[in-house]
Amino acid sequence: MKTSQYIALEELYGAHNYHPLDVVIRRAKGVWVYDVEGKKYLDCLSAYSALNQGHCHPKILKALVKQGKRVTLTSRAFRNDQLPALYKALHDLTGYDMSLPMNSGAEAVETAIKAARKWAYHVKGVPKHLAEIICCSGNFHGRTTTIVGFSTEEQYREGFGPFTPGFRIVKYGSIEDLRKNISSNTAAFLVEPIQGEAGIVIPPEGYLHEAARLCKENNVLLIADEIQTGLGRTGRLFACDWEDVRPDVMIVGKALGGGVPIAAVCGKTDVMSVLNPVGHTIMSGTYTGHLTAVMGAIACQTELAKPGFYGHLNGLADRLYAGITEALRVTGVPGIVQGIGARFGLYLGVTAPVTNYRQAVRTNREMEVKFILGCVRRGLYLHDYGHTMHHGFSSQHTEADIDQSLHIIEDALRELKTK
Ligand SMILES: Cc1ncc(COP(=O)(O)O)c(C=O)c1O
Repeated sequence: MKTSQYIALEELYGAHNYHPLDVVIRRAKGVWVYDVEGKKYLDCLSAYSALNQGHCHPKILKALVKQGKRVTLTSRAFRNDQLPALYKALHDLTGYDMSLPMNSGAEAVETAIKAARKWAYHVKGVPKHLAEIICCSGNFHGRTTTIVGFSTEEQYREGFGPFTPGFRIVKYGSIEDLRKNISSNTAAFLVEPIQGEAGIVIPPEGYLHEAARLCKENNVLLIADEIQTGLGRTGRLFACDWEDVRPDVMIVGKALGGGVPIAAVCGKTDVMSVLNPVGHTIMSGTYTGHLTAVMGAIACQTELAKPGFYGHLNGLADRLYAGITEALRVTGVPGIVQGIGARFGLYLGVTAPVTNYRQAVRTNREMEVKFILGCVRRGLYLHDYGHTMHHGFSSQHTEADIDQSLHIIEDALRELKTK
């Protein structure tokens, strides 16, 4: 079948909930993806950071195939011989006492919310049904009804109400606003160390550190959503590490499975132990702890522990950052590159750093679409994420791959100028 036939079939029988690029991928290996027409693309999206280790990483693949032949699912009704190894791997990797695997990032966020509320009632002593969770303007934590209920992006909420109460919004990056909104009923502060869907919005230096101090002072749990930024994406294990902050609860996902769906909530014993079988079996679904996902996560942990892993990522990030900045300069296209480590993006059409997500709302959507299509036409798979152009290289990329992507980026920028 041709590309157009696959697309027609999908459009006919699939719900139209997304707007993908019209490239139909058949296979992938390392940093390359191949479409059904045999065209090859350098993948610089990495499935929005879910493939930090690249496509079909040999170790991860080997673990998946081996496990797939042995047993794939036991449900949580039985124990199995791999889940303990995952718990141990997550403990060794993150340093957190305990963890709980989930199938998706959104489910893991839901689990953290449940844990925080239960902790508030059972440990902190908040009166029944009064627990509050503080979230930030511009947040993105997934797409369940509870989560979109506290989104500040109207388009994510429209048509899905009524929403779950118990959430309070503060301005992202403002310690003052956080301080004003903490009360004796506050269970937790849920925050992305770098906002993603809002654009790559980096809070002022010291924000996380100060937020952690405030939380501690007020007996409020600090929950970091590092589904996007964690597991090496910013050049450290966690983005919070850049400010030496250790949240009470850490949510990881995406790259955890290296291409298989798994996420996890990691935390200290006093929080995690409120999740007992009476209440939490409801959240623990049939597929949580799926064994191939578990094996993917264990293999991912081994990858992250490899010497030189972060040095390699940071080296590539510096090269890319400098290269895109130079490409903007030589082509004269207005734009800003911002981010930390390998977690950064390109804003087209702006000339000053973006510090507020409202400011990040697309200034030049038409220009961005042209740029993305220009890159894709030239064999570079790049997409936008929230309000920026996301460059998500993986640890399998080399300096030569980064240079090739830069070459295409410069060409695509030049084309914007000539049209
Ligand atoms: C910061 C953050 N939190 C949560 C999620 C939701 O994860 P999932 O898509 O696996 O449900 C995402 C996904 O993009 C994310 O970037």
